[in-house]
Amino acid sequence: MKRLLTGLQPSGELTIGNYCGGIKQILDYQNDYETILFIPDMHSITVRQENPKLIQERIRKHVALYLACGVDPNKIHLFIQSENLYHANLSWILECHTPYGELTRMTQFKEKSAKQKEVYCGLFTYPVLMAADILLYDAELVPTGIDQQQHVELARNIAERMNNRYKKDLFTIPQCLLPKVGAKIKDLQDPTKKMSKSTDVPMSAIFMLDDPVLVRKKIMSAVTDSDSKVYFDEEKKPGVSNLLTIYSVFAECSINDAVKKFENSNYKELKTTIAELLATKLGEIQEKYQEILNSTLVDEVLDSGREYSNKIAEKKYREIAHLVGFGRY
Ligand code: TYM
Repeated sequence: MKRLLTGLQPSGELTIGNYCGGIKQILDYQNDYETILFIPDMHSITVRQENPKLIQERIRKHVALYLACGVDPNKIHLFIQSENLYHANLSWILECHTPYGELTRMTQFKEKSAKQKEVYCGLFTYPVLMAADILLYDAELVPTGIDQQQHVELARNIAERMNNRYKKDLFTIPQCLLPKVGAKIKDLQDPTKKMSKSTDVPMSAIFMLDDPVLVRKKIMSAVTDSDSKVYFDEEKKPGVSNLLTIYSVFAECSINDAVKKFENSNYKELKTTIAELLATKLGEIQEKYQEILNSTLVDEVLDSGREYSNKIAEKKYREIAHLVGFGRY
């Protein structure tokens, strides 16, 4: 069975963008692949977090949310990155095999560092930690949204370089899996930008745990355009195309079907239908989420995931550490 791995940072509350790029893909693939889902908490301190306790709270919330969305605890392995020390250890080895110039090309680093008062080294080297997350498990498939594609490419480059340098098939070369629809859900107030969990513009992002009343409001106030025809054209009609994309993901239909459904609708009708659909779907998820959050399931899943992931990671790490000359022979 092919192995698939992905993670979502607990650096903020999860948005419907994270659902499309991350969670939904797990739901689509968990029956067919050995699926590893982890919480990259070590990634979330690459930018300053004012309240560390919030990260811990979010970890629990995110696990409960995944399960409420339909992630099956009997099928997947779910763990917290910091409960597996091999990620950081392998990352160090990989850093010593990654040219500085390669990291300076990372688009996300350029964007994120421009917003920071002070840029810490971890933000710069973070794509190497992400490569370690993936390569430690020989993951063949890495489902993500489009913003992480460049990082998965970097992981491929690192794997190929290590394999060539040590003349061995040390690492499986991973492949990025983008969702057919929803690889980049846009900001509702500025649909030329990605919807982001770290936004400070009200109404720009829908969070998975937003009250359904607020979800409706956010959709109704989404920026569209001055034309009144509903059709899909991401360049000319980014706002409307984004709404059609959101509909398509949550109604589980193709973009073509979504376009057909709304071809004779005006913007108000389009928005009202999407608002209802999303409020209902998120409302259902939130009900299950509340039940799971305070149950023992969260810890049970995380304990078993920690054990599983450490076994795989230890074996891989020891092989690499030996090869690069660590310790005694
Ligand atoms: P993160 O936490 O920023 O995002 C989690 C997942 O959500 C996707 N995503 C989106 N997809 C569609 N539209 C959007 N607007 C949108 N915003 C975010 C992301 O592409 C991602 O799939 N570095 C990663 C976490 C990570 C990871 C890994 C992922 C760490 N190690 C190893 C895969 C494999 C990150 O910051 O994702």
